[in-house]
Amino acid sequence: MKLIIINGPNLNLLGTREPNTYGSTSFETYLQTLQSTYKSRVELVYYQSNVEGEIINKLHEINDKNKPKFDGIILNAGAYSHTSLAIADAIAAIEIKVVEVHISNVFAREAYRHISFLSKNCVGSITGFGLKSYDLAIDYFLK
Ligand code: DQA
Repeated sequence: MKLIIINGPNLNLLGTREPNTYGSTSFETYLQTLQSTYKSRVELVYYQSNVEGEIINKLHEINDKNKPKFDGIILNAGAYSHTSLAIADAIAAIEIKVVEVHISNVFAREAYRHISFLSKNCVGSITGFGLKSYDLAIDYFLK
């Protein structure tokens, strides 16, 4: 199985960014843990961008029938989750299933984080389990 993790804005700063909320592990370090945990079962590709349009372009590219096929997308669009109709439309436009992931429990935070424009177009949303949210998303695709 081949999965892609797409992280949106500011998630390149994991490890140093608001550690009380997001922990003190960088995503690159965590990715190594994920890759060794799932190595015999999942090929994991990682993409991060701070730019809304680049995330949309990546979703289109993955969906291209002439490109190597992915079995699923794990998307943490960061703050764009709460603002981006364009990313929501891109998810609706592609065939590959998307699982929405958040590290923090967005429902325990500010009211503006309680709304996700993306959720309705995703198979499901996982929020609040720290970096383990990504493990849970991988487990969904595996099972
Ligand atoms: C986040 C939650 C968002 O509200 C926030 O803007 C992020 C990270 C999370 O993983 O908890 O950048 O998506």
